[in-house]
Amino acid sequence: MKKIAVVGSINSDYFVEADVLPKTGETILGNNFFRALGGKGANQAVAASRLGAQVTFFGSIGNDDNGNFAKDSFLLENVETSFLNVANNAHTGAAFVEISNSENRIIVIPGANSHTNKIYVKSHLEQILMHDIFIFQLEIPMETIEYLIPILYEKQKIIIVNPAPSQLIKQDILEKITYLTPNEHEYQLVLDQPDSSMEDALSKFPNKLVITCGQEGVKFFDGSRIVNVPARTVQAVDTTGAGDTFCGAFAVALADGKELSECIRFGNIAAALSVQKKGAQAGMPYRKDLDQFLKRS
Ligand code: RIB
Repeated sequence: MKKIAVVGSINSDYFVEADVLPKTGETILGNNFFRALGGKGANQAVAASRLGAQVTFFGSIGNDDNGNFAKDSFLLENVETSFLNVANNAHTGAAFVEISNSENRIIVIPGANSHTNKIYVKSHLEQILMHDIFIFQLEIPMETIEYLIPILYEKQKIIIVNPAPSQLIKQDILEKITYLTPNEHEYQLVLDQPDSSMEDALSKFPNKLVITCGQEGVKFFDGSRIVNVPARTVQAVDTTGAGDTFCGAFAVALADGKELSECIRFGNIAAALSVQKKGAQAGMPYRKDLDQFLKRS
């Protein structure tokens, strides 16, 4: 089976839950607080591993309790972390996630994720190139992505970029990405097309631009028409990490050799199953969960 590498972020997610989120200047009493492993990179690695892929994570933690917590969690999740960078002068990334009625708001403090830089990936290039499918997000420095993608492209690797949090991606990098997976709020900024309709944007990147639109499904242009792969409807408890589950599952389906619309369908099912528990990773399905769901539907 093809091997997946995630080059990305690790955060400790601090969840606070309340019936309603406070307005500016307001103090409210919440209902619940917990910490869990998160970060878009870590989430996507765990999602792919639970679905049976061989996954290596390249990224950075601080020399602190949260860093050890991340390492232990990865071990339990069967994600290879031999090349993890421990930054002595930074704390492990942290995310403050407010959840209410299945909606969320997140602030990320990158910390050690800023050390997943060009120097780090350059020093592990040989190990990085042993993989076939690569997943990036934008919670690590852009210089890392701009350095690695041209190298991976030359080697004809499959490159998935989940451009979140959204930032502009340069044209020459965009051209080298195999699949770009923004959501409906991100694609205009990422592509530097502020006035572009979704249809226009999609038609410029056939079989490459995959826009996730929550309950509206996932859209791409197949070269002759825009295809919408419908979302699966479930009762959502917490949607944090649903996009990450989609990306991890999408990569696994690619590794299995599935064609694009099938990969999206697989990602959609995994994402739907993931929102039934609180926390980014708690609800991420294992392969058997997904197979059971497929048998029932
Ligand atoms: O996509 C969800 C993730 O975004 C959270 O786990 C949080 O760490 C932020 O990176």
